[in-house]
Amino acid sequence: MTSPFPDDFLWGAATAAYQIEGSPLADGAGASIWQRFSHDPRLMAAKGDTGDVACDHYNRWKEDVALMKRLGLQAYRFSVAWGRVLPEGTGRVNQAGLDFYERLVDELLANDIEPLLTLYHWDLPAALDDKGGWLNRDSADWFADYGRVLFDRLDGRVKKWVTLNEPWVVTDGGYLHGALAPGHRNMFEAPIASHNLMRAHGAAVKAYRETGAHEIGLVVNIEPKYAATDSPADQAARARAEAYMNRQYLDPAMLGRYPPELAEMFGEAWPDWPAEDFALIRQRLDFLGVNYYTRNVTRADDSFLLRAGPVEQKHASHTTTGWEVFPQGLTDMLVWVKESYGDIPLYVTENGAAFYDPPQPIDGRIDDPLRVDYLKTHIAAVGEAIRRGVDVRGYMLWSLLDNLEWSLGYSKRFGMVHVDFETLARTPKASAHFYSDVIASGGANLD
Ligand code: BGC
Repeated sequence: MTSPFPDDFLWGAATAAYQIEGSPLADGAGASIWQRFSHDPRLMAAKGDTGDVACDHYNRWKEDVALMKRLGLQAYRFSVAWGRVLPEGTGRVNQAGLDFYERLVDELLANDIEPLLTLYHWDLPAALDDKGGWLNRDSADWFADYGRVLFDRLDGRVKKWVTLNEPWVVTDGGYLHGALAPGHRNMFEAPIASHNLMRAHGAAVKAYRETGAHEIGLVVNIEPKYAATDSPADQAARARAEAYMNRQYLDPAMLGRYPPELAEMFGEAWPDWPAEDFALIRQRLDFLGVNYYTRNVTRADDSFLLRAGPVEQKHASHTTTGWEVFPQGLTDMLVWVKESYGDIPLYVTENGAAFYDPPQPIDGRIDDPLRVDYLKTHIAAVGEAIRRGVDVRGYMLWSLLDNLEWSLGYSKRFGMVHVDFETLARTPKASAHFYSDVIASGGANLD
């Protein structure tokens, strides 16, 4: 069969600032909520693991771009640490921080690698958290002003911008369950944080339209929700789970409203939103980014806020983060986005898996057959969505490097490149060589 991937399909890899950069306070940067969270043993699950060094990408960026080039990457999705650019979150610009990202972008371009820049991948400046963070309605203006600084400096060299990475995780992890920064556990805060994130997204897109001449979009992590049975109770649970994770962000961004299940779920914690907020949130987008890792089978279960609980798939393979390997879900998700929101260009902005790799290279090699298989089947699932008429334009593997898996620390390795966290040496795994071949063949060679 011929390759379903168009010739200009963009093959790349993704990372995020706090997970790889290290040197979080270098050159005048302001601390982020992740700096605080990772240094607090009461909050961090992997106590002692912090982003202080991480992959030392802040010093090794040139070497890392050379590595991308050797692997044949055509695109690199990375995020900017807000506090490097604006140490207090607003106001004073730190030129040294801005210069770091400018050098990185120029180096990517010099190597024919297209930058995809994410403005927010979870590292809110601590100074803004002190003002309430995403609970403060001013956060929409803070974020748009921060965006303007980067648009002014880099638009043109950066042609694909992302406002937020995964607002669902920011809220569910950061404000409802507390597993991620800033570590709050509050049912009343969660809808407010979500709503302000979406207002911030809208405000940044609006700001981009004033001066930006290229493309801007939103990245969401979505999972297909399948009902465990045909019973009306399980079907309703499925709809709630879908509303909570998948539609809570896409409905307001694309349709200008929330799914009705949210008000039902959150009850008295669900505010009456000002109507004008939806005009701000719903901006024309140039693309959507879909991060896909797994699926979810759901049944009615009153012990959860959603009144929907997961059904474990005992027969299936799972990654070391406990996520079921389910490639068909990626096809289903991409088709679902098109059917629900129309024919907007899509990028798979993250997809990948943590597995137990050999801890150290043996004769310079790391064999990671499970990851190779994961990539093979998931890339094929993207091809299947394209065959079914979905306009998918690129695939960004998560992740370029083993890195800080947030509160789980360095124990979960998602990289196609192994990082020795003692010496910081990088060794491409078998999956990196596999992915290189996929890119070189334009997606035709998946064996
Ligand atoms: C995030 C990444 C994270 C990955 C694996 C996504 O939710 O954007 O930062 O490392 O999933 O958990």
